Amino acid sequence: KPAPDCTLVIFGVTGDLTHRLLMPALYNLARWKLLPERFAIVGVGRSEMGTDGLRHDLTRTMQGFVAERGGEFSADSLDREAWNRVVGRLDYLAGDVEDPATYEELSRRIGVSRDAQAAGGNVLFYLAVAARLFGPVVTRLGEAGLTREGEGAWRRVIIEKPFGHDLASAKALNREVLAALSEDQIFRIDHFLGKETVQNIMVFRFGNGLFEPLWNRDRIDHVQITVAETVGVEKRGSFYDATGALRDMVPNHLFQLFTMTAMEPPISFDAHAVRDKKEEVLMAVHQLSEDAAVREAVRGRYTAGAVRGQPVRSYRDEPDVDPASQTETYVALRLMVDNWRWAGVPFYLRTGKAMTRRDTEIAIQFKQAPLALFRGTAVEACIPNWLVLQIQPDEGISLQFGAKVPGTEVRLGAVNMDFLYKDYFQTQPSTGYETLIYDAMIGDATLFQRADNIEAGWRAVQPVLDAWSSGRAPMAAYPAGSAGPKEADDLLARDGRAWRPL
Ligand code: BG6
Repeated sequence: KPAPDCTLVIFGVTGDLTHRLLMPALYNLARWKLLPERFAIVGVGRSEMGTDGLRHDLTRTMQGFVAERGGEFSADSLDREAWNRVVGRLDYLAGDVEDPATYEELSRRIGVSRDAQAAGGNVLFYLAVAARLFGPVVTRLGEAGLTREGEGAWRRVIIEKPFGHDLASAKALNREVLAALSEDQIFRIDHFLGKETVQNIMVFRFGNGLFEPLWNRDRIDHVQITVAETVGVEKRGSFYDATGALRDMVPNHLFQLFTMTAMEPPISFDAHAVRDKKEEVLMAVHQLSEDAAVREAVRGRYTAGAVRGQPVRSYRDEPDVDPASQTETYVALRLMVDNWRWAGVPFYLRTGKAMTRRDTEIAIQFKQAPLALFRGTAVEACIPNWLVLQIQPDEGISLQFGAKVPGTEVRLGAVNMDFLYKDYFQTQPSTGYETLIYDAMIGDATLFQRADNIEAGWRAVQPVLDAWSSGRAPMAAYPAGSAGPKEADDLLARDGRAWRPL
């Protein structure tokens, strides 16, 4: 069903995010006939170009995408009609987002545009700008009266990540945006929640009767959550060097995977119910002391190497990276959850750039059989039962168990039951932003982060940030193209465990 009529205002319309993700997502929504029937877009940017110039640039980028990744858009050439439903509605406003005059003009445009008027006064603002501008843009919107809702018309704001760079700044930003907006007008994005396979974690757990009874400390030995990337920092050196792997990935993307795995069943799929349960898990993460943080977290930085046969220079030699940088490109963490379901079950999390393979997965190891019945077989030689939720690439779910290797003796071999999405479903290739933009238009915040979720995420990693900034934790090294530093292996070896090979 098409989203309700509205105007979409994109701050940062000439930027990378708009070109690479938002426009392709709007294009897909147009093809799927999910865009509002009466719809207008106002793009705000700094460059002095007219609406025609912007339309031309965006069209060129989009054509490039379709030609390059045709299959992803289910056609080799641009679907003109659908694309026109997006760019045809676009109006460009050149202005400085820190200047109140820009908002006066924006208000005027929304007021006079025929499309915008037809859209009935509903406005969705998308903040695709640098994080330092999130607060100022929302404040200016408020001052200009643009966040005021009235006569059944809504005003909503989508805020990109990173939301703060530690607990204190996240709290300050929440205060700032909540001064101009109410919580239900704010949609804090985490694009991992736009991924089908991430959404499926809850369906897998709560839509099936089989797994949930096993989903606790009685049956589960430990959980490993991996987000390994082959990409390095690419052209994002200055952003990345000021951010690092922990801030870039852990309190947001990895914690989404973690909370969906560890949360209690919500009473419904409603935004409040789901976010309440995520909050409870984050609040139950065992708060580390600074000493413990040095022990339980590993930070690493890649040195020169090769990823899939291509040479990669060391992180410190990347463009826009400080040659004496102390920023990590890899992090591994051991988290404990102090609640009845998970007491004593470690959650190991790791993520890194320039690693050997792209792999996002949640792997659950069940406890071993209590006794080895087979002569000459130690319990340790029994095959561990792994349940692996493969998020990307090769989306699917697999269960490993032991089977008898044919022969006269009883020997156990590891076998897998595999489910691959592509064998069952025709997945509509997408950017992941389609669902999120659509949900914001219909006012469903289930897949967005509430203020308290953001703060609880930062609270859980703050001791690690503190330990690292006090210089107490050594920086481990790993060659680009490897599975991460040896110190991360030691983190698990201490518990008698090992990472699943990448
Ligand atoms: C972004 C991070 O939020 O997520 C990037 O800033 C990271 O550093 C990206 O590469 C990963 O997302 P995806 O969808 O490519 O797995």
